[in-house]
Amino acid sequence: MRIVSGIQPSGRPHIGNYLGAMRQHVALQEAGEDCLYIVVDYHALTSLRNGEDLKRYREGVALDYLALGLDPNKAILFYQSDLPQHAELAWILGTVAPHALLERAHAWKDAVEKGNRDMNVGLFTYPVLMAADILMYNPDIVPVGADQKQNVEMTRDIAEKFNHYYGETFKLPEPQISKEVGTILGTDGRKMSKSYGNTIGIFEDEDVLKKQVMGIKTATIDLKDPMPIENDIILSLYEQFSSSQELDELKSNYAAGGFGYGSAKKALLKKLLESFAEAREKRTQFNTKNLGEIMAMGAEKAQKLANITMDLVYKNTGLY
Ligand code: TYM
Repeated sequence: MRIVSGIQPSGRPHIGNYLGAMRQHVALQEAGEDCLYIVVDYHALTSLRNGEDLKRYREGVALDYLALGLDPNKAILFYQSDLPQHAELAWILGTVAPHALLERAHAWKDAVEKGNRDMNVGLFTYPVLMAADILMYNPDIVPVGADQKQNVEMTRDIAEKFNHYYGETFKLPEPQISKEVGTILGTDGRKMSKSYGNTIGIFEDEDVLKKQVMGIKTATIDLKDPMPIENDIILSLYEQFSSSQELDELKSNYAAGGFGYGSAKKALLKKLLESFAEAREKRTQFNTKNLGEIMAMGAEKAQKLANITMDLVYKNTGLY
């Protein structure tokens, strides 16, 4: 099966990215699927305004992926901007994508509602560039977090429109979303997202992670009282990293009273550090020295596949 997915280098990956996407990406590679993973730096330009930051995050995301187990000899890992054809295909798809379809995008509507100061055109056409990333490689499956489902559905709509005008060109991809993960909540109870500043990291120093975990919003109750287990952010995160027995133990501590949110947060932090111990250790040994070669190798492999699609697109549209 051909698999395609991507991640924005608009900051460092967090546990939401890991649970919703990156963990599946590594598993699919290990299952022997034909995987392409894109560090989507053109997309990150819609929110980042500092070239040094983009460069640092782009390399950081690639190194984080490698530390989490991505093997560049098994999966194709590359920077989106190494293949300008992504922007070219996005333009072409933009000529068939209905304006009304993009207006329905949750991310766009959110930005409008919140009165986001930087309402750039790139933010509006974001799903079209994502469609280009996907359709360029004709994947069967796009493994993403629940928040990206609508974008993959839009990709299907755009592909259908293109096929309608120009004949069968693109395969319609299926989103693959882990039901057990759903949407991972951030420290304030909203979706964990770099743009909300409510993330818990993977590779940050221990004191930074501690601050993030200790900052999780909790109910106000007396220490001696039982703590409610419904809608509890700590429990929902702990569940992702623990066995059902460990989860039950923590839940019974909640129910017993006299436990306190401080202890629950400590248990979660310990779990996170344990779960990522190997990756964190690996990450400290990495630097950007060989990364250039790894990413160039990925871009070269992706380029060969992209050429096939672009040739067909040129032919079918008459641009040839
Ligand atoms: P991005 O960079 O926001 O997130 C990368 C991946 O992490 C998932 N994710 C989450 N999953 C569960 N809970 C959360 N709180 C959470 N936050 C993030 C995302 O669903 C995603 O799978 N538009 C995409 C990047 C992209 C892309 C693509 C993805 C560009 N081109 C082509 C797939 C295929 C995005 O902004 O993801």
